[in-house]
Amino acid sequence: MSGRTFYIATMGCQMNVYDSDLVARSLARDGLKQVHDPEGADVILINTCTVRAKPEQKAYSLLGRMSRIKKRRPHVILGVIGCLAQQKGSGIISRFPRVDLVMGPREIGGLPAALQKLEQGHARVVATRLDPPPPGPPPAGKRVRDRVSAYISVMEGCDNFCAYCIVPFVRGREVSRPPGDILSEAKTLLSEGVREITLLGQNVNSYRWEEKGDPWNFARLLRSLNDLEGLLRLRFTTSHPKDLSPELAECFGDLSRLCGHIHLPFQAGSDAVLRRMGRGYTRKTYLARIEKLREVRPDIAITSDVMVGFPGESPADFEETLDLMEHVRFDALFSFCYSDRGGTRACRMDGKIPEAEKAARLDRLQSLQEQITLEKNKDLEGRCLDVLIEGKSRRPGQFTGRTECNRIVNFSCNNIEIGRIVNVEIKEGLLHSLRGEIREGGSPA
Ligand code: SAH
Ligand code: SF4
Ligand code: F3S
Repeated sequence: MSGRTFYIATMGCQMNVYDSDLVARSLARDGLKQVHDPEGADVILINTCTVRAKPEQKAYSLLGRMSRIKKRRPHVILGVIGCLAQQKGSGIISRFPRVDLVMGPREIGGLPAALQKLEQGHARVVATRLDPPPPGPPPAGKRVRDRVSAYISVMEGCDNFCAYCIVPFVRGREVSRPPGDILSEAKTLLSEGVREITLLGQNVNSYRWEEKGDPWNFARLLRSLNDLEGLLRLRFTTSHPKDLSPELAECFGDLSRLCGHIHLPFQAGSDAVLRRMGRGYTRKTYLARIEKLREVRPDIAITSDVMVGFPGESPADFEETLDLMEHVRFDALFSFCYSDRGGTRACRMDGKIPEAEKAARLDRLQSLQEQITLEKNKDLEGRCLDVLIEGKSRRPGQFTGRTECNRIVNFSCNNIEIGRIVNVEIKEGLLHSLRGEIREGGSPA
């Protein structure tokens, strides 16, 4: 397949970003060149998400566009991969007959072989098994892009079946990767210049591995990565509040590379709603986990996910969500309107909230969070923070990087090496970023 090109569009969460990268590396190894415009590509792949109705619709509109490209250039191979591909299977082809390949996330290790089959004239491939183990470490040596920060998937799938969520149906049961594979993948990334690694899993605290009677949990995995040479920062996402063990919380006090930031979705502030969601914790236990984290690491940044308008959510329930937000004061919050997903328990529940009411609740919630985020960012003015430099910003003479608490910082500097940590004094806290001046590790412009 050498001399040929591929294009890949990625929607959805970090797991999809990781999977797309894995696909890109495998195709590069087979001699295909990645291009950033689908018009010139021989293979077009769309990595899809179906967590809410919106990403599903977005995938269909992109598929319409890519189908039109294929109509003009019939030799193109058009593939749909990821969570929507898993959910709809051959239904995608019924709706978009120009699609050649439908492949779920658990099958993507077989993507290069499937493409070869299609090149050899095989009619169509639909691969949606949920039992294959995660693929081994991606091929080393092919540097896909320059970057300071990279993801490594440590476990895949989810066994929690929260009432609203499609993920367990499209990503399958929980399965962890061997620690040896994860460590060797980390070493490869570090040798390529990566300085920050984010471990990924739908529920990273469920990481489990046992080899010859030697058990690994997530805390042990973190400890073994912490000591790798060249690693400056270690992060992970997402943790489920019900499984956040004291041992994992302690890691925030013990591990020098582990950033003081945790993403801990709470979803709702009312116990009645949490119970119907099947989340396995109460408002009180959630708050106790936050307290424990702040005890171990007082300056820890806490971000979260929340949804409004879950079936049966009363105005009083919603007030409890706002109340929890005021109590915790999250550093950042991803918020969504509840969206019906076929086959889930919530989809069959009574008490659906009208769209207009959900939108009004979301609006109120987001205004409150904007106020909190801005206040927290303003509180950082005058502080000196370590910033990992990620690259040049769009403005000339400016660089951009992130603090340990994952805030974006822009600052002026003459010239500085990407991938280094510098000390920056925060001059202005804005809603989406901070503006600073470099203090140590570089020279001000
Ligand atoms: N495994 C992660 C969540 C992955 S999905 C966890 O348990 O935290 C990312 C977020 O999308 C969820 O945290 C939730 O807030 C939101 N979400 C999932 N299903 C949804 C639905 N049906 N409607 C609206 N938001 C949803
Ligand atoms: Fe979905 Fe719940 Fe699993 Fe997260 S823990 S992926 S919200 S089912
Ligand atoms: Fe979407 Fe699948 Fe991630 S449904 S949020 S891409 S796990």
